[in-house]
Parts: sequence; structure tokens; C-alpha cells
Amino acid sequence: MSGQELSGLFITLEGVEGCGKSTQARLLVEHLEGRGVEVVLTREPGGTALGERLREILLDIGQTGMRPETELFLYLASRAEHVAHVIAPALKRGSVVISDRFGDASVAYQGGGRGLGVDLVRSLNETATSGVKPNISFLLDLDAGEGLGRLDGRIQDGRPGASRDRIEREAIEFHRLVRQAYLEEAAREPGRFVVLDAGSHVEELAREIASRVDALLEERAGTHPGDD
Ligand code: TMP
Repeated sequence: MSGQELSGLFITLEGVEGCGKSTQARLLVEHLEGRGVEVVLTREPGGTALGERLREILLDIGQTGMRPETELFLYLASRAEHVAHVIAPALKRGSVVISDRFGDASVAYQGGGRGLGVDLVRSLNETATSGVKPNISFLLDLDAGEGLGRLDGRIQDGRPGASRDRIEREAIEFHRLVRQAYLEEAAREPGRFVVLDAGSHVEELAREIASRVDALLEERAGTHPGDD
């Protein structure tokens, strides 16, 4: 699938646990829908029926002793389905697709956190995604301990369904490696990544994300084939 065939805009949100990306994804959807833009909000692992089943397995605390390689292939399997059945078709229709996590999460969590190596994961991502890449990726950067603290705060508040899943239960050192790998990916692709301080106020972050996306949409509208 070449970039030309995919006329939509692909946006991803990434970051360590508790960074607030799901809230930001929702706020961005509201902002864009308010402007009359067609938006598809989706997530990984998940986004398809099969992907959601894989998500259950991946996050199940009962799945003890899963090999890092097995974990990686399950995330990649979810991604392959997600791209083929949801993301690429929506981009072909010209929609804006917002994914709460995508390939960079495997680079950070399995490549960095699990130590499988970022080069290996990047190359397997190419196969899983058929080369479909986000146009812009927001990295909501946060100290790993602070993120886990936020998560535990939500659990203590008794928020329905809130409890640490299989990945969230990993030691703080794992989550620090994940953050480091995310920051390294962002430094490697500064044209795609926007790194934001996830410690900022929710509204402030939402405004920053919305203005970046608006700018990108305007830029693309101005350079649309046929306009020149
Ligand atoms: P979520 O909590 O953001 O919904 O993501 C589910 C968990 O899966 C989260 O702990 C991050 C982890 N994850 C990976 O380890 N690798 C991946 O490729 C993806 C997409 C998520």
C-alpha cells in the first residue's frame, strides 16, 4: 500500500502507563468531529474482533510465563489484522484515523522493555503493517513511576474495571526501559513524533494536540492533488 493510495491522516498516541493518551484520544475525536471531520478512533492491541481477543490474552494476569517472543508475535498479529481490516480501509476512504497505540508501542515495550531489540521489532512491524505508518505520533512523555502512581490512584478511587493488567504489573525498571525506548524512537524520527509533557494540564495538552493536527489537515488541504 503506497502513501498515495491512502489519502487519510493517520495519528497515533503513545506513552507509558498512566500518561493520559486515551483521554487525549477522546478529546481529539471530539475536536475533529466538531469541525465536521470523519474520524475513526481505534486502539491496540485490539481494533478488530480477533484483535480484542488477543488483547484479552495479552493483558490476562493468568497468562504467567509468556515468552517475550510470543508476546511480540501476538501484538504483531493484532496489528496485522488491525491495519488490513480497519486502518488501511479508513485511510483509503480519506478518514482521519486515531489509534491509541500502534507499532511504536511494540518497539518500546517488546524491543526496549523486554529486550528483544528495537531493530528486530521495527523490521517485524514493517511486515505486520505492510508499511503503513502514522503521519504524526504524539508521545505523551511521563516519568514511569509517576504514570504507575496515577494508575494506582485510579484503582484506589474504585474506577470500574481499574486494576493492573499483566503488563502494568511489570517492575518499575521495565517501565523505565519502555520510556527510554519511546524517547529514543522519537529522537530518531523527529519529523513524525511530537513529544509532549504528559505532566501538563489535560486541557493544555488537548489544545496543543488539536492545533498540531489542525495545522496538518490545513497543510494537506492546501497541497491536495488537483489543487495545483
Ligand atoms: P493500553 O493500556 O494502552 O490499552 O495498552 C495495553 C497494554 O499493552 C499496555 O500495557 C501497553 C502494552 N502494549 C505492548 O506491550 N506492546 C504493544 O505493541 C502494544 C500495542 C501495547
